[in-house]
Amino acid sequence: MLRLRSPRKNQVASSRQAWRLMRVLVNCENSARVRDAFRALGHDAWSCDILPTEGDPAWHVEGDAIEAAYGAQWDLMIAHPPCTYLTCAGNKWFKPEYAHRFPNRPQQREEAVAFVLRLAAAPIPRIAIENPIGTLSRRWRRPDQIIQPYEYGHPDRKPTCLWLKGLPKLTPTKLVQPNIKRNRNGRTASVHHDAALRLPPEERWKVRSMTYQGWADAMADQWGNPGEPLLL
Ligand SMILES: C[S@@+](CC[C@H](N)C(=O)[O-])C[C@H]1O[C@@H](n2cnc3c(N)ncnc32)[C@H](O)[C@@H]1O
Repeated sequence: MLRLRSPRKNQVASSRQAWRLMRVLVNCENSARVRDAFRALGHDAWSCDILPTEGDPAWHVEGDAIEAAYGAQWDLMIAHPPCTYLTCAGNKWFKPEYAHRFPNRPQQREEAVAFVLRLAAAPIPRIAIENPIGTLSRRWRRPDQIIQPYEYGHPDRKPTCLWLKGLPKLTPTKLVQPNIKRNRNGRTASVHHDAALRLPPEERWKVRSMTYQGWADAMADQWGNPGEPLLL
């Protein structure tokens, strides 16, 4: 049975061991899912996004991710930087035939890569950066692992990279059968993903980029669970 000792001492004790509650920054998160999963375990977790949060605004910084990462002391940062100019799925828009429509794409990609690298270099001992498969593997380094929603209880397929510093790889929590259908063009797509495509654009990106609850819970349980040893 876990008992909270003195929150002022920032410590939790069990009969077996003592551990430190962490100051956690969940960067580029407006859904509050990862933040709230950590808060549920007692951590001092904050979200930061240029948008207002969909959760409780009391623990949300509405502002710039870089300022948040460098402007305070954190024990752990999980960042979900925008992937619009980084993902393989957007590669077609860089082709010469689209250059007249999207002349700024190459520069936008450069800025997006620089944003991620700046986040990764923040003086925080434990960092996880999440992004779809894309140019970061070439421009930065290969991810430490690729996770799927169907490994964490959601019947979707969405390979997602994690670049880790000071953290162990996530272990799948609940394997389920992905719900896949074949589109008219012969390609396969997850049903969830396919349904999101039918939403109006202003809602679509939010639904598609919202962190799966199973991932949020696994991150909090495995990277914030006081019973687990923390790697430094
Ligand atoms: C791919 S979405 C991630 C959403 C996240 N998975 C969630 O569940 O809320 C990227 C987020 O980064 C935010 N963002 C973009 N530029 C930012 C910046 N400079 N500082 C903070 N947040 C930023 C966007 O508003 C968006 O919510």
